Amino acid sequence: MKRVDDFRLRFGKREIVPIMIGGMGVDISTSELALEAARLGGIGHISDAMLPTVTDRHYKTKFVSAKQKQYKLNVHKADKSIVQFDLAQVAEATRLHVSKTMEAKRGEGMIFINCMEKLTMNAPRETLRTRLLTALDEGIDGITLAAGLHLGSFALMEDHPRFHDAKLGIIVSSLRALQLFLRKNSKMSRLPDYIVVEGPLAGGHLGFGMDWAKYDLRTIVTEILQYLHNEKLDIPVIPAGGIFTGSDAASYLETGSAAVQVATRFTVADECGIPENVQQEYFRASENDIEVNMQSPTGYPMRMLKNSPAIGSGIRPNCEAFGYVLDANGRCAYIDAYNREVALHPEARRISVKDKFCLCTHMRNYDCWTCGHYTYRLKDTTRRNADGTYQVLSAEHIFHDYQFSTDNKIALPPPK
Ligand SMILES: Cc1cc2nc3c(=O)[nH]c(=O)nc-3n(C[C@H](O)[C@H](O)[C@H](O)COP(=O)(O)O)c2cc1C
Repeated sequence: MKRVDDFRLRFGKREIVPIMIGGMGVDISTSELALEAARLGGIGHISDAMLPTVTDRHYKTKFVSAKQKQYKLNVHKADKSIVQFDLAQVAEATRLHVSKTMEAKRGEGMIFINCMEKLTMNAPRETLRTRLLTALDEGIDGITLAAGLHLGSFALMEDHPRFHDAKLGIIVSSLRALQLFLRKNSKMSRLPDYIVVEGPLAGGHLGFGMDWAKYDLRTIVTEILQYLHNEKLDIPVIPAGGIFTGSDAASYLETGSAAVQVATRFTVADECGIPENVQQEYFRASENDIEVNMQSPTGYPMRMLKNSPAIGSGIRPNCEAFGYVLDANGRCAYIDAYNREVALHPEARRISVKDKFCLCTHMRNYDCWTCGHYTYRLKDTTRRNADGTYQVLSAEHIFHDYQFSTDNKIALPPPK
């Protein structure tokens, strides 16, 4: 049986180990994690989600407090439409995160940025354009357009000098979504360089409804490969979602996929942004502890651990400081849910909002424990410490396990 290392992803003359670590916001797929993937010859993603917050944490900028201060008189108002991002600050945060990561890059692999279109930031077009163009300016190797179909994103970048040189890819969850993208972009002078096909077992937001369990990644990938073949379109296809072992990955590569995108196994890596106490929750989880729900204010189903502190929290919306999910009219489904509960319980000092959570605050604080379907298998990928906790792994160990393992085996790390 073949293993992943028998294959290479080809971009022109470049040969890449066909393992791509998926983007995980907010700062779950850190620079350090992406840099390891690139050093080992594969592709790593940083994420463009909430970068002003991320650079405050890593580079001591003060973007969040500056915005909070500017709009502090609005904190108790339900209408958040005046809360706007300063585009120069968004650009500066993106510049810092991307340039520092690219300066540190070593090895033959590549670093891409996962761009979340759903972060509409109260001015969808302008903020998206700023994020995309700044990432290109700062030398990112590629951009993966995620979460929501970016039908107009190529057009936002087409005048940039790197429009043809950077690798640009899309994430779709169905053939129909791919066809829609290709049709809407048929007048563009370029095609996507790769297509990530994300199935229903992935972590983060899903591109399916609550009937996600009816769908199957392998069937969707087969349909898309067939369509591309019929249309004589030579675009690498990269399946994602539930690819847990090197053998799972190799079986996709043997049947025409160009690489795989994986994430869940890396949530328990040292280099991952998730704090270690939360990583232990991921290790401990059983299948029953994981659910897909409609708690995210984006309107997309999201998979997470049921004991995520975000669920049921009634925290005051913090849009003056954050506000990444505000739509073009300054609305967010969490604000509506929160205000409904406040009106129902006017005397309460603390309220609980059961149907939605504040995505910005809880993702920033690592309190929304989003995860892939197979998170309950993570405990089988490591050793138990004497105190009952699980050993956190190095990204290199996980990457090499995908690259070299056969027969569905998972290599355990050396004992600490
Ligand atoms: C913790 C976590 C956070 C994620 N966040 C994002 C994200 O911000 N944007 C995105 O496009 N995909 C996100 N994903 C999806 C991954 O990039 C990837 O496509 C998918 O999880 C792969 O399946 P696997 O986790 O079963 O390997 C996330 C996945 C996880 C596990």
